Amino acid sequence: MPNRKVVNVLTLDDFDLKDKTVFLRVDMNCPIDSETMEITGTRRIEETIETLKSLEEAKVVVASHQGRVGNKDYTGMDKHAKVLEKLMGKKIKYVEDVIGEAAQNAIKGLENGDVLLLDNLRLCAEENYEFSPENAAKTIMVSRLSKLFDLCVLDSFPSAHRSHPSIVGFPQVLPACAGRIVEKEVKNLDEIMTVAKAPHVIVLGGSKIPDRLEAIKLLIQNGRADHVLLTGLIGNVFMRAQARIKSPLGIKREEEVVAKAHSLIGEYPDVFATPVDIAIDKDGERVEMDVREIGKGDKIFDLGPKTVDYYSKLISGAGTVFISGPAGFFEKENFSYGTKELLNSVANSMATTIVSGGHLTTALKEQGLADKINHISTAGGALVLYLTGEKLPMMKALENAAIKYRSR
Ligand code: 3PG
Repeated sequence: MPNRKVVNVLTLDDFDLKDKTVFLRVDMNCPIDSETMEITGTRRIEETIETLKSLEEAKVVVASHQGRVGNKDYTGMDKHAKVLEKLMGKKIKYVEDVIGEAAQNAIKGLENGDVLLLDNLRLCAEENYEFSPENAAKTIMVSRLSKLFDLCVLDSFPSAHRSHPSIVGFPQVLPACAGRIVEKEVKNLDEIMTVAKAPHVIVLGGSKIPDRLEAIKLLIQNGRADHVLLTGLIGNVFMRAQARIKSPLGIKREEEVVAKAHSLIGEYPDVFATPVDIAIDKDGERVEMDVREIGKGDKIFDLGPKTVDYYSKLISGAGTVFISGPAGFFEKENFSYGTKELLNSVANSMATTIVSGGHLTTALKEQGLADKINHISTAGGALVLYLTGEKLPMMKALENAAIKYRSR
């Protein structure tokens, strides 16, 4: 339980929750095995338990997205309901619907103590677009469902940077507060950032490239990144911009993102570090090479040992280290070296340390290093943006809801 209040937003402690019907927006967006379509990491579901326990006298409707429409991890929430049921040790109701009659009837039928999970919010077209809060409140999702609720609880910190109807729409028309995850994240991060010392070293991997590029620029401009050490797919994008990788990466909006990476390197030449050696996959084998030897069509799956040494030195001289996204294809044993070694360096540095994203939190746990880190979060892109100091749509929505509630 948090011991210091997050002052600008309301929390569950500000409300009498008994008998209330609550819309609880969480982020159960989990890694999914693209063949079996089963969940391969349940941490984000585990994290929701504390909030659900605080709501045990209410009627709770849990809502989340999973994946993006058209992506391999886009699927229904039936498996999440089963995981949640096991974790809670009680029946979790589930409806294969989001805003239709089936969902509405299921909500109306709830009793105190019941938990109902709706299907993937992104089944509803509106949830795939960004809206102003005012327009989000006018969506069919919010206008239909909000009538059925007394309170909106926002607890999906990993999607705090999205202005989707379920995040910014409901707080326009319902009293709204933060759930336990958001409360804890904001409290810890704000404490860390007030004492954060330079140099600030950001170790950035991951695959949501446009989000990453936007965040990198803001981190540098806002004095939160003295060194950016690039790994993973974003590292490949920068190596392509440096013409170290000769053939196309085959990613969405490739020309645009490579051009952006190119102009960032030009603008901030002393900030970026890119790999000096890498490992490729050759018929299932790991083959290490200097970046000057990368051939056309080589599949880069990991960092090489020289890069790990180079990055580890910068990490050991840091005042604050933030690491987000795996350094390579770490699910494959052959290519987990870079991710594991960099996590080791972060855990053993004297810096204040933040580890972000589902993959890294899983790897940390497996390596038994979690106790050595100051803050661990399953949030990826949202956390990177939070650290830029920019106000995220969810936090704005919560602050405005608090102002409205306190002045009523
Ligand atoms: C995440 O995993 O970063 C969040 O769930 C947000 O997902 P999105 O990038 O598909 O909006």
